[in-house]
Amino acid sequence: MKLVAGNSNRALAEAIANYLDTPLTKCVVRRFADMEIFVEIEENVRGEDVFIIQSTSFPANDHLMELLIIIDALRRASARRITAVIPYFGYARQDRKPGPRAPISAKLVANLITEAGADRVLTLDLHAGQIQGFFDIPTDNLYAAPTIVRDIHDHFKLNSVMVVSPDVGGVVRARGLAKRIGASLAIVDKRRERAGESEVMNIIGDVDGRSCILVDDIVDSGGTLCNAAEALLAKGATDVSAYITHGVLSGAAVDRIAASRLKELVITDSIEATDSVRNASNIRVITIAPLIAEAVLRTAQEKSVSSLFH
Ligand code: R5P
Repeated sequence: MKLVAGNSNRALAEAIANYLDTPLTKCVVRRFADMEIFVEIEENVRGEDVFIIQSTSFPANDHLMELLIIIDALRRASARRITAVIPYFGYARQDRKPGPRAPISAKLVANLITEAGADRVLTLDLHAGQIQGFFDIPTDNLYAAPTIVRDIHDHFKLNSVMVVSPDVGGVVRARGLAKRIGASLAIVDKRRERAGESEVMNIIGDVDGRSCILVDDIVDSGGTLCNAAEALLAKGATDVSAYITHGVLSGAAVDRIAASRLKELVITDSIEATDSVRNASNIRVITIAPLIAEAVLRTAQEKSVSSLFH
């Protein structure tokens, strides 16, 4: 087995490599003066089972292009099998046509990865499970839930906890977590009653006196979370925390969360934390390196990956 890392999340790649006791393959990924990407794999990979660890996070297009070029380099170097390990799969939110003449960019990205020469994809908490079907190569979608559940057990008294989905689209994910920890479920239902009027947030479920845990796949601007937290506190929740797999945290999101009444936001390291994330007083990062490393190992050994979640 060979592990290759792009530049998107070196820390996670090293943690996975440590867990597997397999050093990262020597590989140069750098820029020419005009910002073209140049890749050189500095070790023989002929006949090897190669795993490339690369999230397509900010800057999404650069990291995606790095991934494609690394795949191409490995294919031309006669790797036996190439698995793109993409802990955060960018473009996933563009998975349907929201209107006429709009692209389905998630499908385009899946096509690019396949055409570049990947044989398999390993990813984590895809925005929508159906995106697996965009790839015509085997795709394993891992779940951060077991890691999150362990952390919740360590930090909460479960009898007062209520799991909350911040929107109707996230109910299945939140229900799954509520079931795993034996907690009740509430839903934030955002509705714009009339065009031009601001959104009303209704809470489905009684959160009065409860410690609420918001669950979602992505936190980007932080708007969804902060608004949901306000609505829950207004309905009597004692405190509101959040567990989100992918901390995209664009623009002023970290400041927004720091200034909010969220007790704590817990994210995974699927996207490398910036300094401002590391220094934020109410953001904590938990690692999914062991989970991804186990999945890589099982893939290499042709063992079941789904049994990780039973
Ligand atoms: C949307 O469907 C996703 O699951 C997240 O709720 C969304 O991406 C969060 O975005 P933001 O933090 O910008 O509100």
